[in-house]
Amino acid sequence: MNAIPAPILMMENVTVDFDGFKALTDVSLNLTPGDLRILIGPNGAGKSTLCDTIIGRVRPTSGKIIFKDQVITNLPEQEIVRRGICRKFQTPGVLPTLTVFENLLVAGRKNRAWYRSFTTKTPPAETARAEEILTQIGLEDRRNIIAADLAHGEKQWLEIGMVVATDADLLLLDEPTAGMGPTDTQRTAQLILSLLGRHAVLVIDHDMSFVEALNGYVTVLHQGQILAEGTVAEIRADAQVTAVYLGRAEDAEPAHA
Ligand SMILES: Nc1ncnc2c1ncn2[C@@H]1O[C@H](COP(=O)(O)OP(=O)(O)OP(=O)(O)O)[C@@H](O)[C@H]1O
Ligand SMILES: [Mg+2]
Repeated sequence: MNAIPAPILMMENVTVDFDGFKALTDVSLNLTPGDLRILIGPNGAGKSTLCDTIIGRVRPTSGKIIFKDQVITNLPEQEIVRRGICRKFQTPGVLPTLTVFENLLVAGRKNRAWYRSFTTKTPPAETARAEEILTQIGLEDRRNIIAADLAHGEKQWLEIGMVVATDADLLLLDEPTAGMGPTDTQRTAQLILSLLGRHAVLVIDHDMSFVEALNGYVTVLHQGQILAEGTVAEIRADAQVTAVYLGRAEDAEPAHA
């Protein structure tokens, strides 16, 4: 019998109130180390707010967040990041004037202010790790291209690579396939699957073809509350989820079908 590993992150009854509007109500969620969790739900369900709350950008009105056995609920964002949670930067997350490889090196610098990244020599271990990530994100042949010149999908992969370079134990990816076509979307799913084990990943997305390709455990958020949890197949078979989300998501996004 396999022992169930202790969760890396526990959200306990988290409520977020924006001046009387409840963006999250009593949300409890456990994430397993090295494992994938997919968060779906209609626009305005509270998915991004959930990420903001984990990373310390939004404060819960009540409830508790525990990361690696320590309460992080009211810590500043930088401290939460230092402890090992990284959120994919909002666009533009890449440093546009630097090359792909330089972006990975800067993101991977340990315990240094960003400006010192340019004035101190990169330790060989960090260069080697950046090489590994460059291969993992499939941009070896784009290594010396200025980030501003990358195609949309390539920029997204570089951003994921930058999050990976921080070596955080928990990665939060908010809509990594936004604006991507079907081929790039499938490639992003494979990239995310390759991160598991070393990192736990919480990924938010609207694209059901992407969710199917990831084929992980799904949490459905609706009006700030957890509506359902289960495998992709269980979620697909859930009448309530179909009524509030899947029916509409698939009607609204024929391009991704
Ligand atoms: N800082 C804020 N102040 C007030 N209301 C906010 C704030 N941030 C988000 N909201 C509201 O909270 C609700 C949840 O927003 P959130 O961005 O978390 O949704 P989402 O599930 O990420 O949606 P989408 O799929 O469109 O990205 C929305 O109604 C939004 O308008
Ligand atoms: Mg959002």
